[in-house]
Amino acid sequence: MADKKIIAVVGATGAQGGGLIRAILEDPAGGFSARAITRDVNSDKAKALRQAGADVVAADVDDNESVRKAFDGAYGAYCVTFYWDHFSPERELAQAQSLANAAKQARVQHAVWSTLEDTRRWLPLEDNRMPTLMGKYKVPHFDAKGEADHFFRDAGVPTTMLLTSFYWDNFITFGMGPKKGPDGKLTLTIPMGDKKLPGIAAEDIGRCAYGVLKVPSLTGKTVGIAGQHLTGTEMAAGMGKALGVEIGYYPVPFDVYRSFGFPGADDIGNMFQFKHDFNEMFCGARSVAESRKLNPALQSYDQWLARNASRIPVE
Ligand SMILES: NC(=O)c1ccc[n+]([C@@H]2O[C@H](COP(=O)([O-])OP(=O)(O)OC[C@H]3O[C@@H](n4cnc5c(N)ncnc54)[C@H](OP(=O)(O)O)[C@@H]3O)[C@@H](O)[C@H]2O)c1
Repeated sequence: MADKKIIAVVGATGAQGGGLIRAILEDPAGGFSARAITRDVNSDKAKALRQAGADVVAADVDDNESVRKAFDGAYGAYCVTFYWDHFSPERELAQAQSLANAAKQARVQHAVWSTLEDTRRWLPLEDNRMPTLMGKYKVPHFDAKGEADHFFRDAGVPTTMLLTSFYWDNFITFGMGPKKGPDGKLTLTIPMGDKKLPGIAAEDIGRCAYGVLKVPSLTGKTVGIAGQHLTGTEMAAGMGKALGVEIGYYPVPFDVYRSFGFPGADDIGNMFQFKHDFNEMFCGARSVAESRKLNPALQSYDQWLARNASRIPVE
C-alpha cells in the first residue's frame, strides 16, 4: 500500500469518479490506490467506498484550500465539475480553476480533466443557427468545460483532457427515457436527425480514465471516449428489444426541443444540434476502438441495456 501511487478522485460518490474508484480497487496489483473525495465523509456512499478499500477525504470544489489538501501527496487526480448542480458556467469555470491550482500546488504528475468541446471554436456567437445563451455561450455546460482546459495548461499541470460522451444512463436518471404518446406508443425523443450520437455507460468514463492514468505519455494529449456511436433509430430499437416493447424514434426539431421548458432545455437542445451539425468531427474525436484499449471491459449499448434496461422508467 505504502508505495502505491495515490489517485485523488473528485466526484467519487458519483458516476464518473465512482467508476474510476471501482476500477482502481478492482486491480490491486495495478500499483494505484484510491483516494475518494466527497463533501460528506459520513454519507452512506462514502462509508461504502471506505469499506471497499478507498481512503475517503473531505473537500468541496468550491473551496480551494480543501481541494489543495485533498490532492496533497497524490500522484494523479481525476478532476470533474458538476454543472447540473448549479447551471452556472462561471461557477464551473471557478471550480475548474480551483482544481487546476490544487493539482499544481500538490505537484500532481498526471491529472485527468473531464472536459467537453468549447463549441464556440466551431460556432461563433454570431452564428444564428442556434441562440446564444447567457450572453456568451452556445452550449454553456460544454463551453465552460472546454474553456477551462487552459487553466490546466497554463498551470503547467501534466494533464490529459478527457472528452466524455452522452451517458446512456440519462435514459434512467436524466428524464430522457421513452415516453408514451396519446396513442399509447412509446417514443424516444432526441433531436439528432439521422446522425450518430456517441454514447457511453457512465461507469465506463472512470474506467477509461483509469486506463489513461496508466499511460504517463498521455499527458498533454486530448483523449475522446465512447462506448458506441448510434442513431436515434438504433437506440430506440435496441431499447425496445431489451424491454420487449416497441419503441419508436422521434427526431424532434432543435427549436421544439429547446422550447420544452425543463431547466437547461435550451442548453441541451443546442448541445444536440452541435453534435448533429458537426457530427463527423464530434464522432471522429471519440474512437470506440481507442476507448476499448483504455478499458477492455468497455460496454456496448446492448451490454449496457442487458444490465440496466429494467431501470429505465417507461412513462
Ligand atoms: N449526463 C451526461 O450525459 C454527461 C455527459 C458528459 C459529461 N457530463 C458532465 O458530468 C458532470 C457531472 O459528473 P457526474 O455525472 O460524475 O456527477 P454525479 O454523478 O452527479 O456525481 C457528482 C458527485 O460529486 C460530488 N459533488 C457535487 N458537488 C460537489 C462539490 N461542490 N464539491 C465536491 N464534490 C461535489 C457529489 O458527491 P458528495 O455529495 O459525496 O460530495 C456527487 O456524488 C457534469 O458537469 C456534466 O456536465 C454529463
